Amino acid sequence: MADTKLLYLTDAYLKTIEAKITNIITTGHTTSITLDQTIFYPQGGGQPADTGTITGSNGTLAVAHVSYNNSNPTHQGKLTGTLNQGDMVNLNLDWDRRFHHMRNHTAGHILHEAVLELLPECPSVSGTHGISNQSFVKFKGIIDQTQLQEIEDICNQIVEADEPITTKFMTKAQILKAKIYIPFKLPSNKPLRIMQVGSRPPIPDGGTHVASTADVLPFKLTGVEYDDGHSIIHYQISATSPSTTSNSPANPITTPTLTPPSTKKKAAKIQINHSLSDLETKITTLKSALDTDLKSLSPDNINSKYLGKKGAVDDLTKLIPALPASDRGTAGKLINLLKADIQKTLVTTQPTLPSPPSDWLDVTVPGTLPQLGHLHPVSGAMAEITSIFAHIGFTRARYPEVDWDHYAFESLNMPQNHPARDEWETFFIDQPENKQMGKLVLTPHTSNGQVREMERVGEPPIRMLNIARCYRRQQDVTHTAMFHQFEGLVVDEDINIQHLKGTLDYFAQKFYGPGAKSRIRPFMFKFTEPSFEVDFSCVHCNGKGCRFCKSGWHEVGGAGMVHPNVLKAGGIDPDKYTGFAFGWGIERVYTLRPGLKLDDIRPLYQNNLDFLSQF
Ligand code: DAH
Repeated sequence: MADTKLLYLTDAYLKTIEAKITNIITTGHTTSITLDQTIFYPQGGGQPADTGTITGSNGTLAVAHVSYNNSNPTHQGKLTGTLNQGDMVNLNLDWDRRFHHMRNHTAGHILHEAVLELLPECPSVSGTHGISNQSFVKFKGIIDQTQLQEIEDICNQIVEADEPITTKFMTKAQILKAKIYIPFKLPSNKPLRIMQVGSRPPIPDGGTHVASTADVLPFKLTGVEYDDGHSIIHYQISATSPSTTSNSPANPITTPTLTPPSTKKKAAKIQINHSLSDLETKITTLKSALDTDLKSLSPDNINSKYLGKKGAVDDLTKLIPALPASDRGTAGKLINLLKADIQKTLVTTQPTLPSPPSDWLDVTVPGTLPQLGHLHPVSGAMAEITSIFAHIGFTRARYPEVDWDHYAFESLNMPQNHPARDEWETFFIDQPENKQMGKLVLTPHTSNGQVREMERVGEPPIRMLNIARCYRRQQDVTHTAMFHQFEGLVVDEDINIQHLKGTLDYFAQKFYGPGAKSRIRPFMFKFTEPSFEVDFSCVHCNGKGCRFCKSGWHEVGGAGMVHPNVLKAGGIDPDKYTGFAFGWGIERVYTLRPGLKLDDIRPLYQNNLDFLSQF
């Protein structure tokens, strides 16, 4: 359910409020913002999304669309200046446009009420109130064109009666218990609300509405179309009169008058060659045929023979255009009554089932599709890196995240108080120190696994890949206090720098693509001699130099030939064995992948599904 407070549900007349940015992402030219509360309506229920602006002290988002992704409204548009997560911002609706949508949406509900009053056997099943400039309500059953005037009159009586529009939040269980008519599947990711026109039957609805039917102003029905046993009635609201200036749309949106349904085209071909009494005779004949069929056919067969597509009732409906215009309304009603009669007969001929308990579960209702999950991008990268190194014989190891100073520093040739330690801005655990092992620390790097692995294996060969969480006192766009590293360690006879360089090139090509290269530059680490910094060629410009990399290369971490003191600390004879090691950040190598260009790694750990589901 949404964490954003959806203020439009409780007060559709809020035009401006202050809110806080809970998340902001820019992809290409589009910036998406979620907020702690909003007045912007996300497109849904047939009502178009709102537009407007979100303004902070350093920037403005021109909101072009609002959608309900997963569980929160996302405000999308072009950002000028800068806005950041946590900023307080002012929301301003494009009010004229929104007010027009409110009037148009309420008009759709008035049309639903009018048809319910005149033809209760034709319930509404869906509606569109302005999306793609279309405004219509779809009803079950055939409503003849000649009935439109009568329906329009009732609509405008409801408008004149100035009936209040009220809304109320209800749970699904309450809606079912109150037996409220549900024209469509109730959403599972939004608060449920019902709306009521005056004291008419309530209906589930999450849109924004005007306060009274009178605010809609008289409106017109512009045509009816038929679709698979349904009638789609199109309507058009008038622009507000200049006198109601506060709510008058600056550029009233008008629905083009529709060419009424195919009946118009057919009118030229179909001749008026039937009378109402012809139809009545056909209905009587059909009824007596039905009486006979009831004795021999199954309810399913009767249903398709009489009520199915191209069934007997459908054939009668096709006669309507061949009747004099003045009789078509009555004909439509007679056919609807016949249909209701057949349905009733079919229900009563069904074997009676025990009545369901009040809290019954309808197992035939289509289920809610489970959301498909996937690995977090960092977990995915870990799995991929493990597999790349497994191909050249590295075995995955895991060593503690809370470890002794001895493994994190001392055994790596960094004695107590050595200034080289400053680089690893270490968190210490508030526990008594151990005489041999020193203090407990949150491992600031995966190099703590080197001596541990030597101790575990005893005699080389060693080919270890240690992947673990690491912790440092740091926080900015490219650093988080918790991050991941992977550490390679190879120890054997005759291992030299060429083996290290070959391993780096192999990884570059597997992880970044066939053209990628590695580069090593001299550096200083206490635990390797010689030591290097490792760079990979930029995937965007192939090492030529671009806006993203500047020099053609990206630095990813360190490497070197294992220092003899470290081998000794691990109980390995440095005269017999040599080794190389490397250690890099997973987030760092991952964000340099083609197509990513992630310049802020913090969202990786903010549990925002809108962001994470993109990977
Ligand atoms: N542990 C170093 C760091 O976190 C990276 C590193 C450098 C690891 C050189 C190595 C190495 O294994 O040989 O900055």
